[in-house]
Amino acid sequence: MSLPDKVELAIRQIERDFYIDDDYLIKASEYFLQAMDAGLKAPKQSRENMPMIPAHVSKIPTGKEKGLFLAADLGGTNFRVCSIDLKGDHTFELKQSKYRIPPELMKCKKADDLFSYLASKIEVFLEEHHDTAKVKTSEPLKLGFTFSFPVDQTALGKGTLIRWTKGFDIPDAVDRDVVDLLQANLTVLEVNVKVVALANDTVGTLLSRAYQNDPKLTNSNTVIGCIFGTGTNGAYYETITNIPKLTNPPKAAQGMVINTEWGSFDNTLKILPNTLFDEIVDKETANKGYHLFEKRISGMFLGEILRVALLELFERGLIFQELYKERGGSLPHRITEPWLLDAEVLSYIQIDDSTDLKMLGLILQNTLRLPTTKHERIVIQRLTRAISERAAKLSAIPLATIVRRVKDQYKDDDKDFEVGCDGSVVEFYPGFKEAILKAIEVINPLEGTHKRVYLRIAKDGSGVGAALCAAMA
Ligand code: GLC
Repeated sequence: MSLPDKVELAIRQIERDFYIDDDYLIKASEYFLQAMDAGLKAPKQSRENMPMIPAHVSKIPTGKEKGLFLAADLGGTNFRVCSIDLKGDHTFELKQSKYRIPPELMKCKKADDLFSYLASKIEVFLEEHHDTAKVKTSEPLKLGFTFSFPVDQTALGKGTLIRWTKGFDIPDAVDRDVVDLLQANLTVLEVNVKVVALANDTVGTLLSRAYQNDPKLTNSNTVIGCIFGTGTNGAYYETITNIPKLTNPPKAAQGMVINTEWGSFDNTLKILPNTLFDEIVDKETANKGYHLFEKRISGMFLGEILRVALLELFERGLIFQELYKERGGSLPHRITEPWLLDAEVLSYIQIDDSTDLKMLGLILQNTLRLPTTKHERIVIQRLTRAISERAAKLSAIPLATIVRRVKDQYKDDDKDFEVGCDGSVVEFYPGFKEAILKAIEVINPLEGTHKRVYLRIAKDGSGVGAALCAAMA
């Protein structure tokens, strides 16, 4: 069914603006490689450089690690606390509880407001799952802290917050050591836990997937840990001599895990596609001008890009005109207010193939209280697909580039390459993983070998990974 000419023209233009072709992927991969080197060299953090943060983890787990550890994970809307019993045979036992972060603690004055809440939840977790009398009198339990924000990490258990992302904003915490903040609040509560390691969620995902992967069974080496969820980021193992900014590397270390913070790839927009909608979304964020790659890819932003695109088409008189009149001059607030359109809703829109897109209509009615005409639903679906396709293709750039970069580390074995992934977008968004793999094939990082790249979902990566970091402390 066709759209009115004016609308069709407008949508085609937007689709063109969002379209990523094969040449772009290859060029962008080249640029990503250079950006990695620049970040590994630059002694100081700056907006221009991808952070490329040494994680102070110099070994990838073998699956033989053992012991009981705690892990705490702050990264998005939930705080997770777990205890992990590593069995030493690629398996583990995990107990966990999830606590929703009260929105008022995501943006507040004092760092301690948030960190005392986190400490209190660790206390509650221990009371629920462990013999607290025993915990009190024994050696302190070692805790690995997964903290998924850009941190300047100077040792395994030390790191200061560079800046908040993903909707958090607590200026008092910036430039402070987040391990100290958590430890101090645990001490106040007399909880017998020692925070010994700090890890980004992607570092955790890499370590946990590597622990669980038995190369004898999968015939693959785990080379990247990454997240495509609320935010996006990845970690990989870099050869020591390629990290000039590391002034005193641990003795005898061959390499080190790097938390790339690829969300901040190309903050100066030398190569990233940039539409009017991307600009509007960036202006709405607390970290304006930063993490611009993430703002084109991850779950927190996909719905917002769609929402601002729809509002723009409305302003141009192309959609929602009848509705506006019927409501006496307004649109439903869930479409006019930022951040209320969840990526989950986009995932239903993406795949609806019902007659006249009626399913999609119901979903918009239920989630946004937005009645739509058939034309409007077609527009919404085409925009959604354009936005998500761009996101998936862009996601392939760091993955393919890193695979290309590390392939020589594995030149003496014939195993495939696997990427451990976590996050709602890669796990649940229809077709996202497949679209990433197709775009990786275009970049073709393993050219000249018979090896392949696999994306494997690594559930609970950050908890088990933090435990593995704690095991190394
Ligand atoms: C954001 C954070 C990064 C984290 C990612 C995924 O990009 O800056 O540290 O790894 O989200 O959660």
